[in-house]
Amino acid sequence: MTSNDLQKLFEKLTLKEKICQLVQLSGEFHEDEIISVGPQTQLGITKKIVDNSGSVLNVIGAEKIRKIQSKYLENNKNKIPLLFMADIIYGYKTVFPIPLGLSSSWNPDLIYKAYKIIADESTSSGLHVTFSPVADLVKDPRWGRVMETLGEDSYLNSEFIKSMVTGLQGDLKDNSNIASCIKHFAAYGAPEGGREYNSVDMSERKLRQEYLPAYKAGVDNGCEMIMTSFNIVDGIPSTGNKWLMRDILRDEWGFEGVTIADYAAVQELIVHGIAKDEFEAAKLAIEANVDIDMKTSIYSNYLEKLVENGTIDEELINESCMRILKLKNKLGLFEDPYRGVNIEHEKNTLVSNENREIARIVASESIVLLKNEKNILPLTKNKDKICLLGPYIDNKNILGLWAFHADTKNTITIKEAIENKINKEFLNYEEGCDLLSDYSFLGKFGKMASFDTSNISKEDKLEKAINIAKDSDIVILALGEHTMQSGEGGSRTDLTIPDLQLELLNKIKKMNKKIILIIFSGRPLILKDIIDKVDGVIYAWFPGIEGGNAIADILFGDINPSAKITMSFPYNIGQIPVYYNHFNTGRPSMTSSVDARFTSRYLDAPNSPLFPFGYGLSYSTFEYSDLSLNKNILMSGEILEVSIEVKNISNIKGKEIVQLYIRDCVGSVVRPVKELKKFSKLEFNPKERKNITFQITEEDLKFYKKNMEFDSEEGDFEIFVGKNSEDCLTAKFYFKK
Ligand code: GLC
Repeated sequence: MTSNDLQKLFEKLTLKEKICQLVQLSGEFHEDEIISVGPQTQLGITKKIVDNSGSVLNVIGAEKIRKIQSKYLENNKNKIPLLFMADIIYGYKTVFPIPLGLSSSWNPDLIYKAYKIIADESTSSGLHVTFSPVADLVKDPRWGRVMETLGEDSYLNSEFIKSMVTGLQGDLKDNSNIASCIKHFAAYGAPEGGREYNSVDMSERKLRQEYLPAYKAGVDNGCEMIMTSFNIVDGIPSTGNKWLMRDILRDEWGFEGVTIADYAAVQELIVHGIAKDEFEAAKLAIEANVDIDMKTSIYSNYLEKLVENGTIDEELINESCMRILKLKNKLGLFEDPYRGVNIEHEKNTLVSNENREIARIVASESIVLLKNEKNILPLTKNKDKICLLGPYIDNKNILGLWAFHADTKNTITIKEAIENKINKEFLNYEEGCDLLSDYSFLGKFGKMASFDTSNISKEDKLEKAINIAKDSDIVILALGEHTMQSGEGGSRTDLTIPDLQLELLNKIKKMNKKIILIIFSGRPLILKDIIDKVDGVIYAWFPGIEGGNAIADILFGDINPSAKITMSFPYNIGQIPVYYNHFNTGRPSMTSSVDARFTSRYLDAPNSPLFPFGYGLSYSTFEYSDLSLNKNILMSGEILEVSIEVKNISNIKGKEIVQLYIRDCVGSVVRPVKELKKFSKLEFNPKERKNITFQITEEDLKFYKKNMEFDSEEGDFEIFVGKNSEDCLTAKFYFKK
């Protein structure tokens, strides 16, 4: 529709009809039998509101969407189509690894391809907007939603957000493009204590320097929607925070897309204690430019009254309504309300072989090799007797919490994948134990997700496992946290492997067997008590439907692992938060020796994490040498060329992620001991040597100075180039303005 026609349509709408465009209801509201009973009446949602509401939450599927849309358009006199939105975070039916795994690939181009597939599958099922990607920066693995994030570095986050948004949206003209919704704006990933929905409190400097850049990367790359976060920002919940939602998002960043409250977050303004009633909640949210009220009736029940009594200007509603109509128009919904809905294409697209192949590659580049004692890996096929043990060895639920639209039947397990690679006489299998000894703490989710379908006792399971381990040469043990122990509402204070599984590990350890541990998790777990008990550790995250194949490819060397962690693995829970880009403090502790008492250290643990940001092993061995700069003084407007030689001294072809960090030695405010500024993922043939050059400019040196201006400052800088944030060669330069 032309913008003139859209304007004419808009001008026809009554105030009530405009307000209804701001209302998002879940699918059941559009089912005939429900409207007159249940919570809908309590919410005061009338049939008229349903028939004029603007969008639908978490309905996906070509047939379902076609049915709802056609019925809706029959009842809607203005013929304004519904907008369908859902949480397709890292895969619809072809589920990729969780984003904390995806970011470990350090391969934005590959992730761009994955997100194009996500968009194609979702749109063929009729979806218009996905509530993805998550741009929340995180430093605390106690928070369950770290699984949906891209880790602790804002630059790396921003690079991936760019690839995900552009992968999902394209130019939005093609029916296989989907509108992306960046979330959760802002700083949802920094709750105190890592406790879900807990308070967030930080300086504006920290917010702008570390937590906002990834959301801005989404805006700068054209994301069509932004979702508010549940938490407060400087004492005001995002959903009612004008400074955040208007001054920064709209005025400073120029965001012209649609904003949506997170699930019932408008209502929660009352619970937070920032609104005394729903009347005030509606006022605060609309004044903060929150365009869509997800899943409550506050906008539909109060906005009209607020306009009529002169409390708010109708223009606020006009702006929001027009932004929603413009998004519908951008998606071509007025011309084709069934955009993308293609039952045949849906059948052929979902989990196609091509999509599976990409998912397998993505998983293989996301899975991290954390330990490989005496190069026990890769294994040789059909040589050693291998025993497959553990609750994850033949488990299809390795998709992570946010894959609830997926079918686990599409998952390839480790056991299935290994059986396709080696002869059965070299293989033995037992589950050995259940994931958890007690599921009750998971509430209703626990029963749903309990895998223990057998009625074999714990002791018998253990006995059977030990018996088959006895005549094996190598044990592959697949352990980890339960899917429901991470994700939304999955905050935890004990991040060790569940006790039942530790018991199995310890029994096998006592048998002096070579053990390769494969860990499934939505977060960095605390591994210090088990890392020395095993010979190899493969960190699989929740690797998606092709996870079993990718793990088997890595186990037998068909793939050489290249992933590196993007979130520090704490030595113990007491270290949290631990992250690489920390400040130096006035008493940095270089050692943990006891005579360094009066320095910044613990009496009972090291300062360093068990595994640092950027860490990951390969079957190849890479040597770094000859770090050099083309100048020692960088002037404004010039380019500093940083060169390093990297050699693959092994006989195995492999990929290496070369990382460049910078330290601003003196600033008008303290600066981190290092910050990631560039990286490059390169493939090396055996014995191949490459000279890699990075370019640094003044732009890379800018930060929020003492006066809060974002600019560079003259002075001494250090460069670090290496294979992870702790293992680097260094050089110095001076920047002169
Ligand atoms: C949830 C999540 C958000 C999701 C929304 C809709 O509470 O916080 O990430 O997009 O509700 O399901």
